[in-house]
Amino acid sequence: MFVCFRRIRKCQLRQLIMMCFLLSVIKVYWESLDNNVTSHVKSYSFRLLNSLDFISANLTISQEEARKFSNHRYLINHEQKCVEEDVLLLLLVKSSPENFERRHAIRSTWGNEVYIKKNLGVTVRVLFALGVHPQPTARKRLQQKLLQEDEIYQDLIQQDFLDTFHNLTIKLLLQLGWKNAYCKHARFLMSADDDIFVHLPNLIRYLQEVDHSGVKDFWIGKVHRGAPPIRKKDSKYYVSHEMYPWSLYPDYTPGAGYVISRDVASRTYQASLTLNASIYIDDVFMGICANVIGVSPQEHVFFSGEDRAPNHICIYNQMMTSHGHVKDFHELWKLATDPAVQQVSSGLFGKLYCTIAKIRLLCLLHPVKTYPCKAAFL
Ligand SMILES: *[C@@H]1O[C@H](CO)[C@@H](O)[C@H](O)[C@H]1NC(C)=O
Ligand SMILES: *[C@@H]1O[C@H](CO)[C@@H](O)[C@H](O)[C@H]1NC(C)=O
Ligand SMILES: *[C@@H]1O[C@H](CO)[C@@H](O)[C@H](O)[C@H]1NC(C)=O
Ligand SMILES: *[C@@H]1O[C@H](CO)[C@@H](O)[C@H](O)[C@H]1NC(C)=O
Repeated sequence: MFVCFRRIRKCQLRQLIMMCFLLSVIKVYWESLDNNVTSHVKSYSFRLLNSLDFISANLTISQEEARKFSNHRYLINHEQKCVEEDVLLLLLVKSSPENFERRHAIRSTWGNEVYIKKNLGVTVRVLFALGVHPQPTARKRLQQKLLQEDEIYQDLIQQDFLDTFHNLTIKLLLQLGWKNAYCKHARFLMSADDDIFVHLPNLIRYLQEVDHSGVKDFWIGKVHRGAPPIRKKDSKYYVSHEMYPWSLYPDYTPGAGYVISRDVASRTYQASLTLNASIYIDDVFMGICANVIGVSPQEHVFFSGEDRAPNHICIYNQMMTSHGHVKDFHELWKLATDPAVQQVSSGLFGKLYCTIAKIRLLCLLHPVKTYPCKAAFL
């Protein structure tokens, strides 16, 4: 009995070693495969896109009509904020007037331009995009506070539309318009919610790599492919047949956080000037604009979905974004920038340890809507 037991244990150990070996082989192979996979996915969705051309054609309106969606006046602006020559990333955070604390937390953690410049040697510009508070009485009071805040930090851009969920597309137009007017040369544009955590060091390293390859047509994030409009009236995302009569949205990345390259930013901006922007789901509207210019989003497995990332050092190592944070920015940021955390997955054993930990977290334990199981093998 005892011998048998030991044999089983030995056998299991051998199996475990075999499995680890296999996983590392898969991982190496996957890395070389990765580029091919992305281009594959691209051509696949490009076919799908072509078949959806009628949607953007149907939503095309005259330039005068289209301009009505984006001709809101600037209440706060910083035209000079981006004049510096070599800007890698313009990061526009969608905020709301009352979210002072979130903005504050972002400035002192992942949105800290000075930290990025000092530690990573690149120029990033971070601005918060806002409308005005929908309630007139609160608006007056908050506006005063906003002006004070902006006096100190000089990083708000605000137009005179009501800052509501159903005006998010207008906020997107503000972002595209600002990039086009004042920051055309920035090589990438990221649009992000103010309740996500962005692992900026990881993202910067990735964008630098991508930039070296002279990338064009670049749009990355978590991808929703062929998602149908939600017709349940009580849903936040409800869209009427009148607003969007078709049964499928073009591919898009959730508005929580995505990155586009300079060329895509300027061409989607041009496209937005010809479209009926009354569909208020901003990320879907982005998909429609991209459809016009023939660009489709590509999946990056470490851009999160609706849930927050599992709390584990092997995840922090690779994460790009994690959704649904407010209170724990500082904690996450400390972990994200801790050199010891970055060491954890180095070397063969580190890699194996992290691969197993991630398989446990992403494939077995929590089928959370953050990162897909395949992220465990990257
Ligand atoms: C990826 O594509 C290149 C050329 O398109 C090819 O040479 C290479 O073998 C491919 N790699 C894999 C792993 O399929
Ligand atoms: C757009 O689609 C709607 C509904 O399918 C249709 O009634 C309308 O005529 C279309 N408009 C254009 C310009 O194609
Ligand atoms: C969007 O903003 C405009 C301009 O302030 C306003 O007229 C409109 O009512 C807002 N829409 C919603 C749904 O809040
Ligand atoms: C834009 O679409 C909405 C329906 O969502 C429609 O009511 C409106 O008339 C359209 N605007 C123009 C200028 O065609």
